[in-house]
Amino acid sequence: MGEITNIMEYQVIAKQKLPKMVYDYYASGAEDEWTLKENREAFSRILFRPRILIDVSKIDMTTTVLGFKISMPIMVAPTAMQKMAHPDGEYATARASSAAGTIMTLSSWATSSVEEVVSTGPGIRFFQLYVYKDRKVVEQLVRRAERAGFKAIALTVDTPRLGRREADIKNRFVLPPHLTLKNFEGLDLGKMDQANDSGLASYVAGQIDRTLSWKDVKWLQSITSMPILVKGVITAEDARLAVHSGAAGIIVSNHGARQLDYVPATISALEEVVHAAAGRIPVYLDGGVRRGTDVFKALALGAAGVFVGRPVVMALAAEGEAGVRNLLRMLREEFELTMALSGCTSLAEITRSHVITETDRLRPTPRL
Ligand code: FNR
Repeated sequence: MGEITNIMEYQVIAKQKLPKMVYDYYASGAEDEWTLKENREAFSRILFRPRILIDVSKIDMTTTVLGFKISMPIMVAPTAMQKMAHPDGEYATARASSAAGTIMTLSSWATSSVEEVVSTGPGIRFFQLYVYKDRKVVEQLVRRAERAGFKAIALTVDTPRLGRREADIKNRFVLPPHLTLKNFEGLDLGKMDQANDSGLASYVAGQIDRTLSWKDVKWLQSITSMPILVKGVITAEDARLAVHSGAAGIIVSNHGARQLDYVPATISALEEVVHAAAGRIPVYLDGGVRRGTDVFKALALGAAGVFVGRPVVMALAAEGEAGVRNLLRMLREEFELTMALSGCTSLAEITRSHVITETDRLRPTPRL
């Protein structure tokens, strides 16, 4: 392939480079993959209402997330087992994210430990948490992350059981034997046994706490001073509960369409969550963000920032750290261009009236 001109192209290269089992694990969604497709298609149904003749010679994309200043409202979502994509795995992602001046979220199921990731150098990092049945394990891990210098917890709340990812079942997906879930090494939980279906689904069934509920958000607050982002909210009801539970923020996420199939695209669910949160806590979004125009659309509909998942592992597979750097650069440049062509010079200038959604089109023409 010639020069890479958009981040989707990394997926084509990754497919050629990676073993089928690994590529399928990264790429796939749950069951019919309806939500997987919809996460992208819903973005394509949102159109722009750009403003013209505005001086856009200077554009400021900086923002703050939980008080931390970053270069752009585009962050790295937690994706598990990155050393399957490239030997540098999470090290490469950590370095590329901090070079881009943005936040990396490290998965609980990383193939590098919290301490190893911090050893790559300075950077603002969040830790994604899966709550294990053994709460002693969770306490230890959260304390290690905090001690290592992680700044927030992204508590994943949409995974009491693993979604049915049929490719993983067919491939009998399992973490390759030369790798471990590094944060759990020494706790006898770092390996994944081969199973008759997805080895990861069996691991989750054995270890992850299905009893997890809102009271556990309080429990988590009692064992750490890190702020907690609730990752996996897609309804107004749960947004209100997240606010009441003392969460520092919400991530509107359907886990990259890997959990419950036939939930709406995250970009379609965003506005109801934003309205329910009512400005009391920030709302972020992940799922299907592939273009700078997607980032703009999410911000116009009320997100305070977005995270990208799959593109990171695909870029990692294609070109390691250089790939992730290039991916973050391309997204940044596309977003900057979108702002310029829409007549916005700062994030605060991006408003609801810069986009038109399907629901808007069904309503009688508003008097603007
Ligand atoms: C994920 N995601 C995820 N989420 C999480 O909370 N913990 C994790 O360990 C993982 N692991 C993971 C692996 C892979 C391969 C994928 C694709 C996704 C979900 C992830 O954080 C995010 O919600 C989605 O990836 C966002 O959607 P896109 O950007 O992949 O479309």
